[in-house]
This record gives sequence, C-alpha cells and structure tokens, in this order.
Amino acid sequence: MPTDRNNRPDSDAAPFLQVEQLGKTYPGAAAPVFDRVNFQIREGEFVCIIGHSGCGKTTILNVLAGLETASAGHVFMDRREVAGPGLERGVVFQGHALMPWLSVRRNIAFAVRSKWPDWTRVEVDAHVERYVALVGLAEAIDKKPQALSGGMKQRVGIARAFAIQPRMLLLDEPFGALDALTRGTIQDELLRICAETHQTVFMITHDVDEAILLADRILLMSNGPQARIGEIVINTMPRDRRRATLHHDPQYYRIRNHLVDFLVARSQQLSHGRAPELPPSVRPGLDEGSDTGNAADAADPGGTPAGDDAEVIPFHPRRSA
Ligand SMILES: Nc1ncnc2c1ncn2[C@@H]1O[C@H](COP(=O)(O)OP(=O)(O)OP(=O)(O)O)[C@@H](O)[C@H]1O
Ligand SMILES: [Mg+2]
Repeated sequence: MPTDRNNRPDSDAAPFLQVEQLGKTYPGAAAPVFDRVNFQIREGEFVCIIGHSGCGKTTILNVLAGLETASAGHVFMDRREVAGPGLERGVVFQGHALMPWLSVRRNIAFAVRSKWPDWTRVEVDAHVERYVALVGLAEAIDKKPQALSGGMKQRVGIARAFAIQPRMLLLDEPFGALDALTRGTIQDELLRICAETHQTVFMITHDVDEAILLADRILLMSNGPQARIGEIVINTMPRDRRRATLHHDPQYYRIRNHLVDFLVARSQQLSHGRAPELPPSVRPGLDEGSDTGNAADAADPGGTPAGDDAEVIPFHPRRSA
C-alpha cells in the first residue's frame, strides 16, 4: 500500500471504500434518518465516525457490512458494489452478537472455519487461541457467553472479527463496555495490528480521545433527521502517536476542541439536511491557507473557528433531537 512520509495512506491512491449518496428511511418514518451521505476510505486508512446517539452511525455501518439495505445510494468496496455480508468484512457489533450455545473457542472457530474451510482442526485451534490470548481471554476460552461479563463478551467479538483477518474491519463502539485499563490495552493492540497489517478500519466511537488516538480521519455526523457527514477532520498528529503522550502535543487540544465544538453546537445546526452533501475536510488549528483550512468556515456560516484554544471543553453525549 502506498504511504506518505508520515506512514499515512497515500491521498492520491484510489479509494478502497466508496460511499455515494447513501440514504436510509425506515418504513413508516416521515423523514430519512440520514441522506446524501458521501465519503471514501483509502486502503490502510483508519477512519472513525462520531455523532450523537440516534443519528444513524450503526445503520451506516450495517449497510457497509451488507447486513442492512440502504433506501438510496451505493457502497463500493474495491470497485465492487456491496450487496450482502462477506468474509472480507469483519464486524464487531455494538452488542456482542455471540452464539450463546457455543463456547468462546467455538464461536471464533466457527468464523475461522468459514473463512478457511480447508484448515485442519489443529490449525483452527492454534489460530483461535492466538486471537483469544490477544484480547486477554485465554483463561475463559472454553466458557460459554453467559458465564462472561459484558466486557469479556465484547472482547470475544473483537477476537472473532480480527481472527478472520478481513480486508476491512467494521467496529461499532467496540470498547464501549470495557474498563479503562482493558480499553487502553486493546486500543494499543489494535494500533499495533493496524500498523503491521495496514488494516483498513471504519469505527464508530463516542469517545473523542479514542478517535484522536486511533483515526487518520474523523467523520463528524450531524444530527438527524436527514443527518449527513457534516465535516471530515484530518488527524494531523504523527501516526506513531501514543496514549501516554498524546496530551503533551498542543495539536491534540486543537483537534479535541474542534470535535467537541462540532458535537455541542454545529451537529444540531446542521440537522434536517442542512449539512453539505460533500463534507469539507479540515485541519483544526493549522494556519489559514493550509489545503482545506477554510472549508469549515464555508460550511458553517456561523463562523466557528477551528479551535486552537488550549482549554478543554467538556463533552457529554446526548440523544439527538
Ligand atoms: N429497525 C429499525 N426500525 C425503525 N427505526 C430504526 C431501526 N433501527 C434504527 N432505527 C432508528 O434509526 C435511527 C438511527 O439508529 P442507529 O442505531 O443507526 O443510531 P446510532 O447513531 O448508531 O445511535 P447510538 O449512538 O445510540 O448507537 C434511530 O432514530 C433509530 O431509532
Ligand atoms: Mg449505534
């Protein structure tokens, strides 16, 4: 995969995932949850999406996974239209979605055997054990889901998605149910795997710090109805960023404040289809005249500045109107 000097995916490379004019109206609803959603993901890129509860993030992810049909628009992966689920896409669901009658080992082995039907039992077992150890569940490998805590079940879901080594990982708040320590360990592990394998990832999170740590770009979704991607924030911090030192970089606060400002104020202003169809890309805090530095102002007549104020704005997620 071509990368730039910062080991980011090459911005000139053809998009790996292309989302065009996507819309979803549930039966009986007066207005679409979202419409005219457009974005692209390059191979090897880590993209997070943030937006208020109910704006349609999970629905978008399910359409990318081929588990839900859109009411309008198209999704292409590697130039082929997504028309159903496939093993080239690994999903971690917001709920864990494990088979309750199967042990951890057999839940994951089921997915591994679907991907590599010719593998021997020994090969499957070794592969499963490696991924179970990765999420720290070696001791629980022969337990059934009902004997696990919520966070443990979530980790089984993560191991299962990683184990099929998909071309694209689709993660729906995968760390939401984890304690801070486990969350940090698995975030580090995810970063390591992505750096080693150039994994392409689309991840939903409510956690702005998690997005800044993990993502190359952050899609900011406006509130529904007719939610859209209101803006795309480019993570200008070096790709080898670390959890422990992230907050030493002044750029971290600029990006963080920009994200929080969107969620607190502009996501609501851009509801009801007021967001542009083609979201501007912004680099918070960087000088005017940088590639796309003024685009946010163009999209926001209220003139919210790219936040370069070092004070941290508190953020508490709330349900959209
Ligand atoms: N099967 C369904 N039938 C009708 N409405 C639905 C269905 N699934 C979701 N919705 C509605 O669509 C909207 C978007 O739901 P979705 O689960 O995609 O939101 P989300 O952004 O993932 O929210 P959260 O952050 O709370 O997970 C919500 O208003 C929800 O009530
Ligand atoms: Mg959701």
